[in-house]
Amino acid sequence: MTKALVTGGAGFIGTHICDSLLSDGVAVVCFDNLGSGQRGNVNRFEDDDAYTFVEGDVREPLGQQLNELDTNFDYIYHFASRASPADFKDHALEISQTNTIGTKHVLELAREMDATVVYASTSEVYGDPKEHPQEESYRGNVSIRGPRAPYDEAKRFGETLCTMYTRQFGVDTRTVRIFNTYGPRMRSDDGRVVPTFCVQALQGDDLTVYGEGDQTRSFLFVDDLVRGVRTFAEHDELAGEVINIGHTDETTINEFANTVTRLSPNSIETVYQPLPEDDPTRRRPDITKAKSLLDWEPTIDLETGLKKTLEYFGTEVVNAHP
Ligand SMILES: NC(=O)c1ccc[n+]([C@@H]2O[C@H](COP(=O)([O-])OP(=O)(O)OC[C@H]3O[C@@H](n4cnc5c(N)ncnc54)[C@H](O)[C@@H]3O)[C@@H](O)[C@H]2O)c1
Repeated sequence: MTKALVTGGAGFIGTHICDSLLSDGVAVVCFDNLGSGQRGNVNRFEDDDAYTFVEGDVREPLGQQLNELDTNFDYIYHFASRASPADFKDHALEISQTNTIGTKHVLELAREMDATVVYASTSEVYGDPKEHPQEESYRGNVSIRGPRAPYDEAKRFGETLCTMYTRQFGVDTRTVRIFNTYGPRMRSDDGRVVPTFCVQALQGDDLTVYGEGDQTRSFLFVDDLVRGVRTFAEHDELAGEVINIGHTDETTINEFANTVTRLSPNSIETVYQPLPEDDPTRRRPDITKAKSLLDWEPTIDLETGLKKTLEYFGTEVVNAHP
């Protein structure tokens, strides 16, 4: 039986990865400190014998924390890390250590077990990009001292560690640069634009747009992401590779607000607030590499994904805490 470790498996993306692996008969160990993860994302698998939850922290060596399981992993999906810009200030050190020291601990475990590691990097490594769309070869425009640095500089060094472990020790690492992904099981108070707008729309509150709303994002539905990540992980001979996974449709925040308003059951307006420092103005992935190496491209459009996400927040969150 194939065995996988999912760090950050109680988080938004991690729980969808656990789901997908379990559906394919993979035994899953979810490892999470529940910092930004949700207990409900663990409880949903409690009846599945192939699923084990270990509460722990990647900032400490993993071997000791997983000792009792006495198991070897074929794959490690390293997705542990708070990802919401709302956390970049209060959890700065934790985020930077999770992606640097934590990534080293994951790589050490992979080296011992001869496991393939998939590292969740981010479009944030491109910073406020000067090239559009962003190809994997673009080196980015990142502020090393700015408010987003604990996240994006740490992700950049996490990527460097992966390449070092591949070159120096032959560890099979694969880095996925994830662009803005959304869907059910995001935290309603996570601070990212999709859950914020969904909850505001369902509660009948006005949508808060930062700046003029003409900054663009490309929103990827989580099912498309998981399919890309799994294909990348299981594909032959991609050790050491880095691949962008994201949607290529660019949407302004104003257009996104209009779509949410149209789908909202309530009549709502848009209100404007000042743009935070270092908020990127434009992001769109070049996915040529994902198409040619993985035969992957997104299949779910924004309206379809948004309807599913609104449905989730409607039943699980807003109705639960009216
Ligand atoms: N959602 C996106 O749009 C997006 C974009 C780019 C990259 N990513 C990356 O994907 C991964 C998952 O993101 P998400 O959106 O699901 O965020 P999330 O906050 O929902 O999930 C992160 C999970 O990691 C856990 N975690 C954090 N620090 C940990 C630590 N030190 N030890 C153990 N567990 C820890 C949290 O408790 C949480 O369950 C992150 O690495 C993130 O940087 C996400």
